[in-house]
Amino acid sequence: MKNNFLHIADYSKNELWDILNLAKELKAKFHNREDFKPFKDQSLAMIFAKPSARTRISFETGFEWMGGHAIYLGPNDIGIGKRESVKDIARVVSRYNDMIMARLFDHKHMLELAEFSNSPVVNGLTDYNHPCQIMADIMTVWEHRGNVDDLKITYMGDGNNIVHSWLQLASVFPMHFACCSPSGYEPDEKTISMVQNSGVSTFELSHNPATAVNGADVVYTDVWASMGQKAEAEEREKIFSDFQVNEGLMDKTGKDTLFLHCLPAERGREVTDSVMEASYSVVFDEAENRMHAQNAIMVSLNKFR
Ligand code: CP
Ligand code: NVA
Repeated sequence: MKNNFLHIADYSKNELWDILNLAKELKAKFHNREDFKPFKDQSLAMIFAKPSARTRISFETGFEWMGGHAIYLGPNDIGIGKRESVKDIARVVSRYNDMIMARLFDHKHMLELAEFSNSPVVNGLTDYNHPCQIMADIMTVWEHRGNVDDLKITYMGDGNNIVHSWLQLASVFPMHFACCSPSGYEPDEKTISMVQNSGVSTFELSHNPATAVNGADVVYTDVWASMGQKAEAEEREKIFSDFQVNEGLMDKTGKDTLFLHCLPAERGREVTDSVMEASYSVVFDEAENRMHAQNAIMVSLNKFR
């Protein structure tokens, strides 16, 4: 196991399956309230430069369930990269804490944090990616379908951090990945090339929602304006309006399709209320699986295990 969890494609298919199998085991243990304390007397620093519900709650609850103590450091606390340099924070925090989870703006800061930390670093989202989310997503698809074979995943909307982690997964797990974004809002070209050069999955980029969802096993969407882009929300709403996931679009898959969303959802924008509440929407299982996937990631990184 590597020392950090920064990008999905840093891991091999077997390593990712080890994490997913462990996540399934830990989910059962959590539901049975079994005693499981691999982090006894250890602490996790959770550095947040952006807001969060799921990431904060799931890491804190998960780490404490596993016997440790989690410390929340919010956007106004340590001022990473502002009040103090990233490399100094990395060295200071890792003197106190056995693991660091961070949610930052600039991906380069995440890499620097990991480089200078003596404790494992888990990426809880940057402007570039969100690897813990996509581990929970694929776990959810696996649970609902029983396997992850021959999947067509259609991602509808902004070419953002979520889709970058999906593309990283597609460079390790075989699938057909269709990304449908408005012109000018496509994912990062290098990350697209990563999938194309991997020879593992097939990738399709389009601007036509109706054809992109055809035959999809999973339709996924995310907000049109991510954290840090909310000033552009009004302008983006006009550009993205044809990319809304609604019942009409879900009907066009021609299959039993799952709907996923990392949440928070802006109902009435990227997704309608009725899709969020439909029987094929598994967004709350997905949210729950954040904790189990992350617990497995942290157990795998635990330097004292
Ligand atoms: N999906 C997700 O990361 O949610 P939060 O932003 O609430 O943590
Ligand atoms: N793309 C979204 C994901 C939130 C979990 C954002 O970065 O705001």
